[in-house]
Amino acid sequence: MWLPTFLLFSYSLIYIISKRQSYVVYLGGHSHGPEATLEDYERVTDSHHEFLGSFLGSKEKAQVEMFYSYTKHINGFAATLEEEEAKRISKHPEVISVFENTAKKLHTTRSWDLVAMERDGRVPHSSIWAQAKFGNDTIIATLDTGVWPESESFNDRGMGPVPSRWRGSCQNNTKEGVPCNRKLIGARYFTKGYEAGSGKKVVNGSARDTEGHGSHTLSTAAGRFVPGANIFGQANGTAKGGSPDARVAAYKVCWDGCYDADLIAAFDAAIHDGVDVLSVSVGGDPADYFDDPIAIGSFHAVVNGITVVCSAGNSGPARGSVSNIAPWIVTAAASTIDRDFPAFLTLGDKKQMKGGSLASVALPANKFYPLISGADAKKANVSAADAQLCFMDSLDPNKVKGKIVACLRGIIARMEKGAAVLRAGGAGMVLINDKQDGNSLLSDPYILPALMVTHRDGVALRKYMDSTKSPVASISAPATKLGVKPAPTMAAFSSQGPNLISPHILKPDITAPGVGILAAFTGARSATGLPMDNRHVPFNLLSGTSMSCPHVSGLAGLLKTLHPHWTPAAIRSAIMTTARSRDNTGSPMKGYNLLEKATPFAHGSGHIRPNRAMDPGLVFDLTLTDYLNYLCAFGYNSTQLAQFSKRYRCPATPIKMEDFNYPSIAVPTVTRTLTLTRTVKNVGSPGTYKARVEPPYGITMTVKPEILKFDKVGEEKAFEVTLKPHEKSIGRGYLFGRLIWSDGRHYVRIPVAVNALS
Ligand SMILES: *[C@@H]1O[C@H](CO)[C@@H](O)[C@H](O)[C@H]1NC(C)=O
Ligand SMILES: *[C@@H]1O[C@H](CO)[C@@H](O)[C@H](O)[C@H]1NC(C)=O
Ligand SMILES: *[C@@H]1O[C@H](CO)[C@@H](O)[C@H](O)[C@H]1NC(C)=O
Ligand SMILES: *[C@@H]1O[C@H](CO)[C@@H](O)[C@H](O)[C@H]1NC(C)=O
Ligand SMILES: *[C@@H]1O[C@H](CO)[C@@H](O)[C@H](O)[C@H]1NC(C)=O
Ligand SMILES: *[C@@H]1O[C@H](CO)[C@@H](O)[C@H](O)[C@H]1NC(C)=O
Repeated sequence: MWLPTFLLFSYSLIYIISKRQSYVVYLGGHSHGPEATLEDYERVTDSHHEFLGSFLGSKEKAQVEMFYSYTKHINGFAATLEEEEAKRISKHPEVISVFENTAKKLHTTRSWDLVAMERDGRVPHSSIWAQAKFGNDTIIATLDTGVWPESESFNDRGMGPVPSRWRGSCQNNTKEGVPCNRKLIGARYFTKGYEAGSGKKVVNGSARDTEGHGSHTLSTAAGRFVPGANIFGQANGTAKGGSPDARVAAYKVCWDGCYDADLIAAFDAAIHDGVDVLSVSVGGDPADYFDDPIAIGSFHAVVNGITVVCSAGNSGPARGSVSNIAPWIVTAAASTIDRDFPAFLTLGDKKQMKGGSLASVALPANKFYPLISGADAKKANVSAADAQLCFMDSLDPNKVKGKIVACLRGIIARMEKGAAVLRAGGAGMVLINDKQDGNSLLSDPYILPALMVTHRDGVALRKYMDSTKSPVASISAPATKLGVKPAPTMAAFSSQGPNLISPHILKPDITAPGVGILAAFTGARSATGLPMDNRHVPFNLLSGTSMSCPHVSGLAGLLKTLHPHWTPAAIRSAIMTTARSRDNTGSPMKGYNLLEKATPFAHGSGHIRPNRAMDPGLVFDLTLTDYLNYLCAFGYNSTQLAQFSKRYRCPATPIKMEDFNYPSIAVPTVTRTLTLTRTVKNVGSPGTYKARVEPPYGITMTVKPEILKFDKVGEEKAFEVTLKPHEKSIGRGYLFGRLIWSDGRHYVRIPVAVNALS
């Protein structure tokens, strides 16, 4: 133990003196094509060494300091540098960006029934599953914590040989590593960015998932049918992913933190290997495109025909919190499904409160226990504030023994509070929601009888406890309830627009199930991940935009199977324009507090509707030139963008941001009148489409022409939208409306967000 500590100490000493850090240097694309050979890659690496050597004094020094050379599709490298060196490199004309190699975070099965792909466990012929052959031979990959290969979700029974176009591989294809099969066809791991950024070492590395997150997301996107999946008996049913017969690959980039240099290396590998869809449930704070490894990696992926779906982030409901906002990414928000896990708290005065729980143990029915708040049960030398949050070892066993303890949500993991109560000898726990999350209940696999109640019920509970000398309560066992209304509703944690980096692009794009999702888990970690928990579960219930993202990826996989030649932009357009913004009561989808209706800044175009996405009628398509024109308008110049496409030049007059052909409209400022254009491409039967507008409050919205006639597939038609604000809309912030094109069979819906200023 002594030696490593010493080494770590001297390492940080060097760090302080000379400020050496790991950086990513991004150089755009490569001039070699997809047919490049090993020699081409070696030549690239050599040129990287040459280039870095010119700054460091020698090529040998460059070889020592460089830990990644990105050679396949993404051009750049990662190296340990002094701050001064990094600054000098960033000024070189061929360099697009230089940024520190920092860590991004993870955005931590009834869901398919909710979106009508199956009915009571049967798959109707009209379902996109039947039509798209369950995603047969499409390849879906995650950039995540890896995969638990023994999970039933990744069995290869009945699957044909691996598609011959696949160029990927399985590192450590052994029993201890990740044994691949005809379902799980790729497993790679990337450690150098983590090791350089954190100063830690990965020993005996592999793509094996020791966290659970990566297995969960991969199986949600494309896990096979596994009957009888449940957690402690709850949520029982057949688990499956969006594209159950697709092949899957896991690129492990997250250890503790997902480092930029590893993310880029994994994107480069995945593009080379031939994946069709990439699911990335990882993110950081919103950042400029070329300082953001996910924006960079996904740009190269999309240009190569790969659809990239990312989570919007779990920093909601704060406005402007949405991340992964690049206009080539599909950005997924999270909403509830029509299932919950109610448990009831009954107080001594007979009052009953409904909470949520997946506790694996229950108290005897109708038996009452003394009730105490964490603050009242505090240890002598602990603050009441800490004890109220039920920190580990903050509760006095003498005061807690045999009682139900009321704890406040916040700061530490929810289930850790349960562990703290259990350790102090408590009989059960009531977790009271914080004010911000209000009514948004989460059901967790607590290790003691416990439930979470709403903030409002928490206030009533406090009142009851203050009203009597000896408060008592009982906690019922949880149950699984289906058909919950209203659903879907937005999750409180789901990050929201507006898009702070480029407000002309409405983000998030779409919402999908992300609350209480049952999917595959790791065998290397307990259900809660707490050391005192020894319950292992093959399936676990998790919540987050991390969970909604792979739902959208699974759908993208089906669309790729059905329409192999569609671009990622067309696939995204189909998903967005067919989405639904109403819930299962027919009312507009509600925000997390169930009071007001959610806006497109929460749900984008709405909730995914897979069966409709099969046949959207019209799509808003985009080419590489469209993206480059967009980047010119965003402020990058021809010299910089030539790194992507040698012949490309920015147009003499930059395009208007409003005109970027996105399947939604966001206008961050309009004063008098603004006209913008869009172009739609027919991908359905011939038809005559008529425009219908639902203008934002106080804004006149007109469309020209109002009728678009399509005679054949692939035909493109442009239209103009004019927005004219009136006095009453000015200064009210963003106002929302919709535009719908319909030929009577297809409904092409695009949300409109307008901020009118005087
Ligand atoms: C996928 O399609 C191929 C060719 O039609 C077929 O041979 C194979 O059995 C299918 N795979 C699965 C898992 O259904
Ligand atoms: C995986 O392979 C690498 C390189 O051969 C090796 O260092 C590592 O220990 C292996 N991991 C496991 C789990 O076997
Ligand atoms: C790494 O793997 C080797 C061979 O399987 C084993 O002997 C060693 O204990 C492992 N090291 C760690 C730190 O797990
Ligand atoms: C789950 O459902 C299956 C099929 O209906 C049934 O056989 C099984 O007993 C159920 N398991 C639990 C734990 O309820
Ligand atoms: C409180 O006292 C206990 C035992 O006397 C000690 O173990 C613990 O660290 C103390 N906690 C704090 C927060 O000072
Ligand atoms: C393009 O932008 C870079 C970085 O801001 C700048 O150094 C360069 O001079 C610009 N080139 C032209 C032709 O404007």
